[in-house]
Amino acid sequence: MDWGMKNRLSKIIRPEDGRTVMLAVDHGYFLGPTTGLENLGKTVIPLLPYADTLMLTRGALRYYIPPETDIPIVLRVSGGTSILNKNLLHEGIITSIEEAIRLNVVGVAFSILVGAEFERDTILAFTQVVDEAERYGIPVVAVTAVGREMSKDAKYLSLASRMAAELGARIVKTYYCEDFEKVVDTCPVPIVIAGGKKIPEKDALEMTYNAIQAGAVGVDMGRNIFQSESPVAMIKAVRAVVHENYTAEEAYQLFEEEKSGGE
Ligand code: R5P
Repeated sequence: MDWGMKNRLSKIIRPEDGRTVMLAVDHGYFLGPTTGLENLGKTVIPLLPYADTLMLTRGALRYYIPPETDIPIVLRVSGGTSILNKNLLHEGIITSIEEAIRLNVVGVAFSILVGAEFERDTILAFTQVVDEAERYGIPVVAVTAVGREMSKDAKYLSLASRMAAELGARIVKTYYCEDFEKVVDTCPVPIVIAGGKKIPEKDALEMTYNAIQAGAVGVDMGRNIFQSESPVAMIKAVRAVVHENYTAEEAYQLFEEEKSGGE
């Protein structure tokens, strides 16, 4: 692995402990003004001291994040369909690697939809991005997207995650599920979990804890942080689980304390 690739990966997965808190705020690329991100900068900037990387689109980066901000960027480079489309997640390349370099990113993220009728389109576009990104030492984070009617069990997520790794992902982002160890153990690259739809803070911390115990290197979490009643308290609690080995109970207690501390 060349120096640039190693250097960028070390900005995503912290070398001190091999873990990461990726803050995902890229939802607008298919959801528009997502709850909590109507004014993306206002919500996200106070969270950045507790995030290792920020994942978003080029437009959100340009319009909401000042260029002087000290946060490694993972740029979403796949898209093409909206929440209104029945073929949601039939994605292609929406941002070039040249643009990613211009924006000084440490990684790019691309969704593949294994098992969908159009899986081939997403997979071929993904491998094209891998070829181009690797040329410049930029790691590709594969997002193993899951369609509305697809199951999120260990069998399916292992299949999608292993495929993503074999096709060239340097990091795989997937969903937590029962028997998550199987997903981690059969994937040769580090795995992070998405948070998914907003659930109670206690449950999201439990899920984070279980994922770390099963071998995930961290989270790439969005709604369960920015839609929390106290986003700063929540990201601090998630961070405590990921980087400080807090149990879910300890982290929830931290959340409660931070929340009532009045941000
Ligand atoms: C979805 O495709 C987006 O990439 C989100 O960034 C991802 O799902 C993580 O966000 P959340 O934790 O809200 O699911």
